[in-house]
Amino acid sequence: MKKVRKAVIPAAGLGTRFLPVTKSMPKEMLPIIDVPVIHFVVTEALASGVEDIIIITGRGKRAIEDYFDDAPELEMHLSSNGKEKYLQLVQEISAMADLHYIRQKEPKGLGHAVLQAEKHISGEPFAVLLGDDIIRNDNPCTRQLININEERSASVIAVEEVPPEMVSNYGIISGREEAPSLYRIDDIVEKPPVGEAPSNTGAIGRYVFTPEIFDCLKETPTGVGGEVQLTDAIRLLKGRQPVYAYKFKGRRYDTGSALGYLEAIIDAALEKDGLREDLLRYMGEVMRR
Ligand code: G1P
Repeated sequence: MKKVRKAVIPAAGLGTRFLPVTKSMPKEMLPIIDVPVIHFVVTEALASGVEDIIIITGRGKRAIEDYFDDAPELEMHLSSNGKEKYLQLVQEISAMADLHYIRQKEPKGLGHAVLQAEKHISGEPFAVLLGDDIIRNDNPCTRQLININEERSASVIAVEEVPPEMVSNYGIISGREEAPSLYRIDDIVEKPPVGEAPSNTGAIGRYVFTPEIFDCLKETPTGVGGEVQLTDAIRLLKGRQPVYAYKFKGRRYDTGSALGYLEAIIDAALEKDGLREDLLRYMGEVMRR
């Protein structure tokens, strides 16, 4: 079984939940204080041992490419003004990873976005990290999935229990527990209505796939929301080979929701030198209002 060396980060979505700011700014560039969400996602992929990252972009996503690119004018300015600390920061970002970009010409859904990477993946197992979630853990979530893929030579997706009223926002699985926290998927449904969900265990945006997922994506008709759904392709795949769901270890921030985004910012602020005390004082004030 080949090792997972490549990752796909779909970042072509329109970001409607964060309009109006996403009218002119990719949702993946929303800042957690001073670092965009996608920076954390790329860092997780690299920390998981991925060497080659494909970002699927679309119209209006140039800011992502600029962020990870060299910035000669800015670097010259910082260097001639003696701002060495910032210069180093900026240079580290552009040296971070081997990034490739593929454009999804039409917004036909997550499954269609992942399919755009097929040629680049060339028959290897690979990871998919959605640009909306930040997951923190010493052993990165994607690494946890890669370990399972290496053990079982199978696809595996990260899941967590979600509140029942939220199941209609997720791909929901049902399955049999084969090892602690590891389920063999019996069924997976994209955004089921509340009351029709097979469980409240939801896919949270981290996946490792065998390359057979591409054949399934090609056979997947448009589904919920008129889009080609990755979840529907996983449903086909699990009829052909075992697919696992793993209750990952770590703290997830759903930065695609306003509350999750704020939580990520507050936790980052609490860890930032010189900000913690002032923030706690302010929060105390807010609580007394
Ligand atoms: C996507 C997937 C869904 C998954 C979710 C996790 O939905 O289609 O299966 O549970 O990401 O965040 P989206 O949030 O893009 O609507």
